[in-house]
This record gives sequence, structure tokens and C-alpha cells, in this order.
Amino acid sequence: MTVLAIGGAGFIGRRLVPILAAAGHEVTCMDIDIAGARAAFSYLGDKVTVVRGDVSQFDDVIGAMQESGADRVVNLSYFIGDIAPHVAFKLDIQGMDNCFEAARRCAVRHTVFASSLAVSGPQAHFGEHFVHEGDERRGESQYAVNKITNEWQAHDYRRAYGMTITCIRPANVTGPDKKFGSIDHVNCMCQPARGQTVTFPHADAMRCVIHVEDMAEVFARVLLADKPEHETYNSGGTMISMAELADQVREFLSDADIRFEAETGGRETSGNYLIDNSRLVEEFGVQYAPLRQRVGEVINDIRAGEGLPPVS
Ligand SMILES: NC(=O)c1ccc[n+]([C@@H]2O[C@H](COP(=O)([O-])OP(=O)(O)OC[C@H]3O[C@@H](n4cnc5c(N)ncnc54)[C@H](O)[C@@H]3O)[C@@H](O)[C@H]2O)c1
Repeated sequence: MTVLAIGGAGFIGRRLVPILAAAGHEVTCMDIDIAGARAAFSYLGDKVTVVRGDVSQFDDVIGAMQESGADRVVNLSYFIGDIAPHVAFKLDIQGMDNCFEAARRCAVRHTVFASSLAVSGPQAHFGEHFVHEGDERRGESQYAVNKITNEWQAHDYRRAYGMTITCIRPANVTGPDKKFGSIDHVNCMCQPARGQTVTFPHADAMRCVIHVEDMAEVFARVLLADKPEHETYNSGGTMISMAELADQVREFLSDADIRFEAETGGRETSGNYLIDNSRLVEEFGVQYAPLRQRVGEVINDIRAGEGLPPVS
């Protein structure tokens, strides 16, 4: 297959592109920032082409789609967090629409885009209920509302043109090189691995954590399907409190200095952390590595970068 990965040089894309190339697919990675991407993907040879392009510019998007001859498109480009409204609109809303419209004109067989668990809003809206893809979307931040708009837009393209567009809602993706979005879980592993003290507001704050390698595998499996059974999939992950995560870190680093300003509280203001991902599990057979194993891997990735020996 031929895949165009927009935003493919980012945190998830850097793992997704090699999975696709290793499976024999031709991949074009289009990104606005390709510094390092060509070198990073060079070991994959001519299976991966890296092009610079701006998703907010329709000509860049349709040009890359036509040039690559893609029959699969995935859009991972986004601003993660809240920024100036005009800038966010151009990248998040206009950019996503450019992908859908270009995919329509190029008769792309399957388009996949990243939404987020943020669309659901705080877990408190749902009590102890595991949030399903069909539940009400209660997110109110700029990021969440833009994702909700993308989901609506995908629905509109499917309705109007019968396109296959699939939405994946990643949970709290974690990994040693994550820079944007929820990073308390990242810091909880990485700062102690560097021998640094780290402090968080609440021991009881909850997360639903998925390692970036598992997340990339989910994107690959769904993208390569011709027509998934559902339009939207929750990634799900491991539900864990910050205090529990700190305990897992201490299993590898007994002297890890992880502190909490408050030993209680934080759960009631946490985002959606009870997530039903049975659609993904049943249809695509995904199984995530145990979080404890991933914690060890992240710690050792950081230690390797610091020239420190691995811990076990
Ligand atoms: N990482 C997470 O925890 C998480 C959680 C939920 C949802 N998501 C979603 O998954 C997707 C990928 O996340 P990520 O963590 O890989 O993000 P990232 O920021 O690491 O990667 C995004 C990529 O998009 C590129 N990009 C930015 N502006 C662009 C533009 N105008 N044109 C082309 N490319 C542009 C960036 O250079 C970057 O390489 C995003 O849509 C994000 O909202 C991520």
C-alpha cells in the first residue's frame, strides 16, 4: 500500500512510519518540520520519502497526495494544548478539512485521523462509567472542541461522499521523548531516571496511559484496514494514579525522589481515565505491553541517553 503520513515526523509519527515501512508499504511523511526526519528514516531506504509541507495549505496537502499516489492517509499534525485561536483554527480545523477534501478529490481509500480522549472531558461527568465511543462528548477546552469539530467534519464527509474516514482517540500517550500535551506521567519516569527530584500537585490525579509504541501500532493496524467496522476507536490504556505510577518508578529506581504537594485529591478533576476500548481489542486484537514493563523501558531509554547503565 501507499501511505501519506501528515505530521509523520512527530512523537507518534516517528514510530508509525517505520512500522508501515517495515511491513513493506511505501510511505511519504509530510511535515512542516523535517529537521532530522530524513536522517531518522534513512535506514528504511526508499520505502520512506520525506517532504516538507504545511497541512494548513491545501495545495501542499493535495500536492503530496497526488505525488505520493497514496491510497491511505493519516493526519497526525496538530497543536497540542491551547494557543492563539487563529493559529489553532488554521492547523486544527482548516488543516483537517484540507486532508478530508484532498482525500475526497484523490479518491483515497481510507483516511485516518487522531482525535483525543480530551473530547470526553472530565471523568467526573461520567462517574465510574467506562467511557465508550458513543458517549456524550463533554470536552470544553480549545483542543477538545477542535477535536470534536474534526469528528463532526469526518462524519459530514462520510455522509456526503461515502468516504471511509476513521477516528482514533489516543489516551495519555507516554514515552521518553514526549514534549507536548499531558507530560506529568512522562516527567514522573524521566526526571527520576536523570536523578532529578520531581513534584506534582496531587497524588490521586488519574491518567489512562498508553506507550507510544503501542499507540503507533494501533494507528498502523487501523490504517491498513480497508474499511473498519466502526468510525471511531478509543485507544484506551492503563488506568493509573500518579502515586501508583510513582511506586512503579521506585521499583526500578529505589531512591527516586517523587513528591506530591497533596497526598489526596486530584481524582475529581482528572480527565477521562476510565475508557472502554473493546471495539479496538475485539476487531484489531490489540494487546498492550504491561505498563510496568514500559516504565522500565522509558527509564532505561533516558538512562542510556545520559550514559548511565540500565536498571532492571
Ligand atoms: N501524544 C499524545 O499524548 C496524544 C494524545 C491524544 C491525542 N493525540 C493526537 O495525536 C496526534 C499526534 O500527536 P503527537 O504526540 O505525535 O504530536 P506531535 O506534536 O509530536 O506531532 C505533530 C507533528 O505535526 C507537525 N506539524 C505541526 N504543524 C504542522 C503543519 N502546519 N503542517 C504539517 N505538519 C505540521 C509537527 O511538526 C509534528 O511533527 C495529534 O493529533 C494529537 O492531538 C496525541
